[in-house]
Amino acid sequence: MASSNTPAVNEEYFKSYADLEVHALMIKDKPRTDAYRDFIQKNSDLFKGKVVLDVGAGSGILSLFAAQAGAKKVYAIEASSMASVCEEIVKVNKYENVILVYQEMMEEVELPEKVDVIISEWMGFYLLHESMLTSVIVARDKWLKEDGILLPSHAGMYACPVNMTDYCNEKFNYWENVYGFDFSPFLMRSLSAQMQQPAVAHLNENQLLSDRELVARFDLKTMTMSEIEDFEEQIKFTIKKNSDLHGFAVWFDVRFTPDLGTDQYGLTSRELSKSLENGQVDTNTTNSSSTTGMNHITLGTSPTDPETHWKQTVCFLPAALQVNKSDNIFCRLRFSQDESNLRHYNISMEIMEDFSSSSESDLDEEEEEDTESHPVPCDCGASRCTLIRAIMEKYDAEQNELEMEAEFTDVSAEVQAAQAMNDSSCLDMDNSLKDDSTSAEKDES
Ligand SMILES: C[S@@+](CC[C@H](N)C(=O)[O-])C[C@H]1O[C@@H](n2cnc3c(N)ncnc32)[C@H](O)[C@@H]1O
Repeated sequence: MASSNTPAVNEEYFKSYADLEVHALMIKDKPRTDAYRDFIQKNSDLFKGKVVLDVGAGSGILSLFAAQAGAKKVYAIEASSMASVCEEIVKVNKYENVILVYQEMMEEVELPEKVDVIISEWMGFYLLHESMLTSVIVARDKWLKEDGILLPSHAGMYACPVNMTDYCNEKFNYWENVYGFDFSPFLMRSLSAQMQQPAVAHLNENQLLSDRELVARFDLKTMTMSEIEDFEEQIKFTIKKNSDLHGFAVWFDVRFTPDLGTDQYGLTSRELSKSLENGQVDTNTTNSSSTTGMNHITLGTSPTDPETHWKQTVCFLPAALQVNKSDNIFCRLRFSQDESNLRHYNISMEIMEDFSSSSESDLDEEEEEDTESHPVPCDCGASRCTLIRAIMEKYDAEQNELEMEAEFTDVSAEVQAAQAMNDSSCLDMDNSLKDDSTSAEKDES
């Protein structure tokens, strides 16, 4: 798959980054900017006399940190018109002999030399939205010296089932009675839109229904483009309390641990989660590596971390699922770059009976057996069957209203899911954050 996008997509994308407010939002995101500043200041030896490449320099804040730490040369690459602001900021801070600003796309720039360090703030919602990581990989392959480092060096994505009662009350239930009027047509459209596009919201710890589980982990030094084009993970969540489960939240962390080898990441998701939980790799703290003396930093964006502008991303189920403490929820999460806009991802969730019926090629054969042991609807209590029942009940209740809404060209995802359940042995919900980059950047980075 191509590493860049269509010119129209890129034009729109870089136009959104010409907005001063977007850069103000990012710089004022203290956990974010502090993480970069702290790592650079606490590990200035990595920068002294070194050549640094800042991929997507924006207003130039990371380039300035690097120059301040003693970098010999910093190449600040910024494709948007923010590059001219960056150049002025560099000048007024008297770093024009160290920091060279290029208003070009990273993919097209020609540098005079290879670099020791690549620094970049490329993360989007749920880590990968915007797909800017591909530009960092291009920069790495072309411009990083063999023994060079990337900052951040590692990234992880996590998921957790969540309760969204307050959000649903505010966003949906409100429309049931508006000044005494029935606003259900508004509600139906609002529900339908929510199924197509995840919510980006700050959650609190009470909304988490299980421990977080790892979805994917990337080692920036060695990863390939194909790792982020299309990937999936099967995850078992063990529910911690009786609640309504409305969907799955996804968030990420990035680590500044360039001295840690890839062996850490050969661990299975569960083993790695355990080692993270046991503090083998510190989270949201600075910590000295016993072997290299490097100060490690992790920038976390979970509901328990200090709030960042990335918040958390929540993909909704078609209907709330009642869950009880100790229930196991078997889920397959898939992220695939949208072919028509590589800066977007399609996110799909499948709730499964268990992982024994996980192979897609087996699905057709298992479907028949499955329908025999689990008729639709089924009262066995398994999460998938309970969800199917909830969707059917919701579907029945809403059917009349939907039929009256004949002008709907885009049938709601709920209905699609309810129809699909008759011929699928798993539930598959697609969500993609289809905000155009303008609204994404306005609201978040
Ligand atoms: C998330 S912002 C970070 C800005 C700045 N580094 C900071 O930390 O405040 C990403 C920046 O990278 C720029 N960018 C993204 N992809 C790029 C590419 N391929 N080439 C050049 N600039 C790029 C965007 O225009 C945007 O200004």
